[in-house]
Amino acid sequence: MADNPTKGLADVVAASTALSDIDGRAGRLFYRGYDIHELAGRTSFEETAHLLQVGTLPTRAQLAAYGAELVQGRTLGGLVAANVAEIAEKQAPMEALRTLVSLASADDPDKGSNSAEANHRKAARLTAQQPILVARYHAARTGGEPREPDPELSIAANFLLQITGRVPERRAVEIFDTCLVLHADHTMNASTFAARVCAATLSDMHSAIVAAIGTLKGPLHGGANEQVMRTLESIEPSGVAQAVRDRLVRGEKIMGFGHRVYKTEDPRATHLREMSRELGEASGDDTYYRMSKEMEEVVFAEKGLYPNVDFYAATVYHYLGIPTDLFTPVFSVSRMSGWTAHVIEQHADNRLIRPDSEYIGQSAQKWTPIDER
Ligand code: ACO
Repeated sequence: MADNPTKGLADVVAASTALSDIDGRAGRLFYRGYDIHELAGRTSFEETAHLLQVGTLPTRAQLAAYGAELVQGRTLGGLVAANVAEIAEKQAPMEALRTLVSLASADDPDKGSNSAEANHRKAARLTAQQPILVARYHAARTGGEPREPDPELSIAANFLLQITGRVPERRAVEIFDTCLVLHADHTMNASTFAARVCAATLSDMHSAIVAAIGTLKGPLHGGANEQVMRTLESIEPSGVAQAVRDRLVRGEKIMGFGHRVYKTEDPRATHLREMSRELGEASGDDTYYRMSKEMEEVVFAEKGLYPNVDFYAATVYHYLGIPTDLFTPVFSVSRMSGWTAHVIEQHADNRLIRPDSEYIGQSAQKWTPIDER
């Protein structure tokens, strides 16, 4: 393989965006100029989605209008209801979401339109529908109907209600809401880039989101949070350091560590670590939190790597009672707000995304008839 300094498009500026910005050396993340540390714990996911999709933190009146749009938009057409049971039987969660979002597009009132107004409405609908799709999928595979979402509750509260079947405690809702805020957007990450590449052909919003979901699914991206939990579950609490070293000796990656852009602590991990500690202690068994802390120390000592957003998200979701195979779908519930905002932004000032490639194959080949090869 030729030595390509931009392999994986490292350090390549692939788009301009006013949505989010990262300072990888300082470990800072901004949504539309607001430091994530200002937003986390103070701004709801709904306000954050409005900030990304509409452009401003909403006033109370704007939030009420946007909230009403979300409540109205979460109603799903008949195709999802008719097929979700069979999909739940045959597909893993992220595969199912890819299929379900595609199915939902057939019932979208704005299907066929790529206007800015239609895309804003689709963005709100997709943001409202994604948690409902996860809940419907989960209910279908566990043999029931999800609890009806309560129009008075936030997306975070309704999601916990629907997934766990219990009315969540106030602090659990606050923590989960903060998780959704922390995952909402992240510059030109792989799934957002996939969405923008698709949108830049002037394809539609739902197609771009399907591309993004398929991209988020991979373990090097959003799929890492599930793998973090699987790793913790596979290790003896007393054998964390040895297990990490064994994996590194075998050349394996430790899921939830490392990042293309951050050269120091991921600012989202700072919040997630603290929330994991709080929930672990409150649960009366903080073993997974303590194991995570030890893993963090060992990986840093051995490789100089910091935890990324997926590492402590895993134990936070675990303590909140979310099944492990729904961790990446949870990521998609949040990132939907950013993906859709990026599609709107791409369409507002579009140019086809079509990079070049470096040819490294054979040359001067001579064609021969099939029987002479
Ligand atoms: N465990 C062990 N070693 C690692 C890890 C890790 N988690 N991450 C990077 N490294 C090592 C690589 O083996 C490589 O070492 P080498 O130079 O000796 O070969 C070096 O660090 C550079 O790693 P790359 O994979 O080339 O770095 P890149 O910037 O391409 O990848 C990525 C970033 C994909 C996040 C990587 O760190 C990784 O695979 N981490 C584990 C998966 C993960 O947690 N993904 C979630 C990322 S956050 C998100 O997408 C939401």
